[in-house]
Amino acid sequence: MKALMWRAVVNGQAVQLSVPPTRLLLSLLREELELTGTKLSCGLGRCGACMVLVDGMAVNACLVMAYQCQNREITTIEGLASQELHPVQQAFMEEGGFQCGYCTPGMIMSVQALLGQHPEPTEEQILQGLSGNLCRCTGYGGILRAVGRCCNKMESPGQADETSSV
Ligand code: FES
Ligand code: FES
Repeated sequence: MKALMWRAVVNGQAVQLSVPPTRLLLSLLREELELTGTKLSCGLGRCGACMVLVDGMAVNACLVMAYQCQNREITTIEGLASQELHPVQQAFMEEGGFQCGYCTPGMIMSVQALLGQHPEPTEEQILQGLSGNLCRCTGYGGILRAVGRCCNKMESPGQADETSSV
């Protein structure tokens, strides 16, 4: 199958690569660009571990072909922080928003997309915004506290139910 010249902006850098049309965005990011912060878990669009931003929208990179992101702006977890942690990353750190950390990059990208769309989200919008992300460690309490720290709209620290699901 004929390769295509793939062009996009990834984490602020213009990228040009020859890729087969069957290449998934997730595979391109992890294997070609070595951006391994974007995780593969279910590979079926069910867990959100592979979440990235495409033109500011949260997208499951395991479900999207690279060619569908031609000339788009893609942001991965590696693109959030500069010299210091991004405020959402900092909030996850301070509120214990992760345990094993496998879901964390995807969670943080979903939070970033949510805050991009709703700078002051309602609780319903927060739950909706994270509905595509699963945490196998069930660390939802810390995750919700971290989101709350970012937008001051959820329960104050210590009030979230540690076992509640998003
Ligand atoms: Fe993409 Fe689970 S790995 S949604
Ligand atoms: Fe382990 Fe979420 S922290 S899967």
